[in-house]
Amino acid sequence: MKRIICVAASMLLCMMLASCSRQPETENNPGSVVVGFSQLGAESSWRIANTASMEDAAKDAGFGLMMENANQKQEKQIDAIRSFIAYQVDVIVFSPIVENGWDNVLHEAKKAGIPVILMDRMIETEEKDLYTAYVGADFYAEGRRAGEFLLQKADAMKAEHLNIAEISGTIDSTPMRERQRGFMDVIGGDPRFTVIDSISGDFLRSKGEECARQLLDQYGAGGIDVIYSHNDSMTLGVLDVLEKQDIKPGKDIVLITVDGEKEAVDALKAGKVNCVVQCTPNLGKAVMELVKKLKSGEHVAGTYHPEEGMFTEFDDLSNPAVEGF
Ligand code: AHR
Repeated sequence: MKRIICVAASMLLCMMLASCSRQPETENNPGSVVVGFSQLGAESSWRIANTASMEDAAKDAGFGLMMENANQKQEKQIDAIRSFIAYQVDVIVFSPIVENGWDNVLHEAKKAGIPVILMDRMIETEEKDLYTAYVGADFYAEGRRAGEFLLQKADAMKAEHLNIAEISGTIDSTPMRERQRGFMDVIGGDPRFTVIDSISGDFLRSKGEECARQLLDQYGAGGIDVIYSHNDSMTLGVLDVLEKQDIKPGKDIVLITVDGEKEAVDALKAGKVNCVVQCTPNLGKAVMELVKKLKSGEHVAGTYHPEEGMFTEFDDLSNPAVEGF
């Protein structure tokens, strides 16, 4: 059995190497650049769109993309980064599932002289030279936008008090931490709001459903005024559960969500969601621009945040600019 697994693994590696094999470098052949990309999973429509954006941008730039999907496992991401180092890719790009635990493997990349770009999520480290740049959303600003919408909504409702349940993303991931921090910084000091619970739905639609059931069992529909969910996939799971229990989403319970995928924006237009904070998955082009710069010897550093906004029930939703990805 072990032998079969070994043979299969070597065949897979050979196939990966063959598909990214280095061509002689010429002006018209930047294909000699190989980017090792460790994607963290396929947990949401956002993630799937993000993977496509990386693939398309690499193709447009003429770069070879060696991609590994870690299925939500940090160990798999670490293994993938090690395989990219072994192959001596030109640049490593990865989207860290959680913030901690990357120093060792990034030291190995640094020792091998391979620059690392963080895409989508950040890491926590004392050693800022373990990566060259970060391309991804300002999650703190997204959390603040969600909070600002709630202030506006509470004013419009003339609400004296609102109970909020938070369904967070993956514990210890950047979007989870920062969307929570930004939201709380806006609403935390306002006595009209109580966050009655915060549970993690891991950015998954199925877990969003589970969380909704758990919250309704515990507090009842009358005990929850607002659900702030850290992504659309979980919100769509919540929506399914509310509708099955004859609770009107967007009316009986205010729904605030983040991402901006088509299904969520359509739900906003249908009055079932009250606010969609945008988070764009289209980061591939900006990443490949940085790869180009690195390959031409330019100094690359700092943070690139894409421009984002939000769509709410107070906007003109017939405007064609209100659309999801
Ligand atoms: O890191 C970005 C987040 O990860 C998106 O909001 C979510 O949908 C995804 O899974």
